[in-house]
Amino acid sequence: MTNDLMEKVVSLCKRRGFVFPGSEIHGGLSGIYDYGPLGVELRHNIKQYFWSKFIADRDDVYGMSAAILMPAKVWEASGHVGKMGLVDPVVECKICHERVRADQPEAISDHEATHKKEKVEWSEPKIFNLLVETKLGASEETANKAYLRGEITQGVHVNFKNILDSMHPKLPFGIGQIGKAFRNEITPRDFLFRQREFEQMEVQYYIKPDEEEGKKQFEYWKNFAMEWYLDLGFKKENLRFRQHADDERAHYAKDAWDIEYNTSFAGWKEAWGIHHRGDWDLKRHSEYSNTDLSYFDEETKQRFIPWDIECSGGVDRAVMFVLMEAYTEDTLGDEPRVYLKLAPHIAPIRAAVFPLLKNKPELVAKAREVYESLKLSANSYQLAYDDNGNIGKRYRRQDEIGTPHCITIDFTTLEDDTVTLRDRDTGEQERIQISELLSKIKA
Ligand code: GAP
Repeated sequence: MTNDLMEKVVSLCKRRGFVFPGSEIHGGLSGIYDYGPLGVELRHNIKQYFWSKFIADRDDVYGMSAAILMPAKVWEASGHVGKMGLVDPVVECKICHERVRADQPEAISDHEATHKKEKVEWSEPKIFNLLVETKLGASEETANKAYLRGEITQGVHVNFKNILDSMHPKLPFGIGQIGKAFRNEITPRDFLFRQREFEQMEVQYYIKPDEEEGKKQFEYWKNFAMEWYLDLGFKKENLRFRQHADDERAHYAKDAWDIEYNTSFAGWKEAWGIHHRGDWDLKRHSEYSNTDLSYFDEETKQRFIPWDIECSGGVDRAVMFVLMEAYTEDTLGDEPRVYLKLAPHIAPIRAAVFPLLKNKPELVAKAREVYESLKLSANSYQLAYDDNGNIGKRYRRQDEIGTPHCITIDFTTLEDDTVTLRDRDTGEQERIQISELLSKIKA
């Protein structure tokens, strides 16, 4: 199954309303995707889980939301503009002048294959900057160059002083956010894996500039991120850590480790990055803006620029890897089925309610009543009501989108207020009281 897993997941995403190619009826745009009704719920649940674990449940991390558009000066300060920044090497095909990543052998061989028997000659590699540029202002002459942020990180660093002055935090403390980032990727590929518009979830954790403290915090956040990722429903053996080699690290990083997922399409691939950014960002923003971004330690009476340990995850990669991990084919009651074995806390629909028959008004009324009352008390979960087709078909439809529980209202319900609760993974059904439903679904 693994070889064509990607194809199956992409097809399920389109068929069942998770993810669509962006602006598809107009021919689409490479590396751009739109989320449908179920995809947006799954993505929302993953982001929500990040927000609660990395920010809301902690006393030492503040949340914020910075703007996508930032002046060019931010990116000059951060080092993303220029040769060492957000750049990739490209080579140009001398036959058709298409450019591909020079450091991706698979992109080169894929391109050579399109020319069949012709021998492709490549240009010398050139450095290409991935930042997406735009202009703001009413006329060309007065327009100011701006960039759509290439990483959400800089929105935090440029607000470091604002957070210090408004919240008066004590080190160590973090600032986290979730939001879109944009990169003009030369070869967007592999579905949501490498896009030009994507979402990131990050915490910048500021610490005292001290080697031992740096090592300790780095280890802590590596493990914290791994635990969080495992909680999305991954098997332990499908995730691993990998340290970046010296020539692979981003310009800002003193040390960098990835959490990688064992993909069916290309082996181990980056899901998450933990970076020791030292004082790189604050120091550079301080220099370029002439603003003091130091921190005064009341205890030691020392003033210094803190170091930053960064935890940075891709939301879309998490969505894609979660779907790939969850995709399951099995046989249930002699019938083959496809289902998504999603962890209940991130499943787009937490439970579906069915009347056994849709042409029996008393069953429909009771099913509606159960659905409405669950909806009220389950406020943050999405529930579905389905009366279309026979029960077997409804089960299969919910299995395919990963709904952990289906609740059926039948004639016995009218007599004793019990319903059947069906488990997605085993297909087993139990009869329980309506009053027990909420706690069962939550559990
Ligand atoms: N602030 C650090 C930073 O941006 P990164 O390793 O370039 O580091 C962090 O990106 C995460 O963002 C990656 O681990 C990945 O999950 C996600 N990401 C990066 N580029 C992406 C792309 N083109 N499409 C989808 N996700 C991407």
